[in-house]
Amino acid sequence: MHAVGIVAAAGSGLRLGSDRPKALVHLAGRPLVAWAVETLLTGGAHDVVVAVPVEHRDEFAAALPGVRLVEGGATRTASVRAALAAVDTRAVAVLVHDAARPLTPPDVVRRVLAALEAGARAVVPVLPVVDTTVAVGPDGRITGALPREAIRRVQTPQGFHRRTLDEAYRRLPATAELTDDAAVVHTIGVPVQTVEGDERAAKITVAHDLALAEAQVGW
Ligand code: CTP
Ligand code: MG
Repeated sequence: MHAVGIVAAAGSGLRLGSDRPKALVHLAGRPLVAWAVETLLTGGAHDVVVAVPVEHRDEFAAALPGVRLVEGGATRTASVRAALAAVDTRAVAVLVHDAARPLTPPDVVRRVLAALEAGARAVVPVLPVVDTTVAVGPDGRITGALPREAIRRVQTPQGFHRRTLDEAYRRLPATAELTDDAAVVHTIGVPVQTVEGDERAAKITVAHDLALAEAQVGW
């Protein structure tokens, strides 16, 4: 199956609080985005398109020699939309990944691809929730318990049949802002298959997450 990876790397990383875009922050001497690109290629993507913040394009080009870059947008949804428009016409599957998940094992990519090959049109890696989950009202008080068994944490890369993802983005209003691509295809009623995620695919959001990732790679 000819799969092309998209890496959403155009965010600024406000919550991490670095002096540069989060995707350019180093983990063990390499920018997060370089880790993410490598995972996709090792896991089976034929090629990768990376959405980058336009004002930092040169730094991304230096960090990712030979990799196709496109100008990202103001939201993750806009960035993925821009990258999708640049995906090779030969691609029958698209894998959308966050630059902010540098230590995702290539086996997660392989599981997503295998589910696509088995016929799913949309696939997301997920993990169970281990803590007790509750709903809280605006006053900070618990309003009720949520059934943890029915809840999953959603990761990336998320895989799609290319035509399905193209159609979902075509029909999505230009200003829509969704946090992932499973939510985008859900808007056109496509069933989304889950496969097992991996704790190492955790997203780096705040400084503590980067410290954990450094510990993971023995840095
Ligand atoms: N992203 C993107 N384009 C945007 C916003 C986010 O491509 N306009 C990407 C980020 O680069 C990141 C992924 O989407 O790899 C997940 O987003 P998040 O973790 O929220 O990253 P940032 O938006 O960079 O961080 P923050 O929200 O703290 O500013
Ligand atoms: Mg963000």
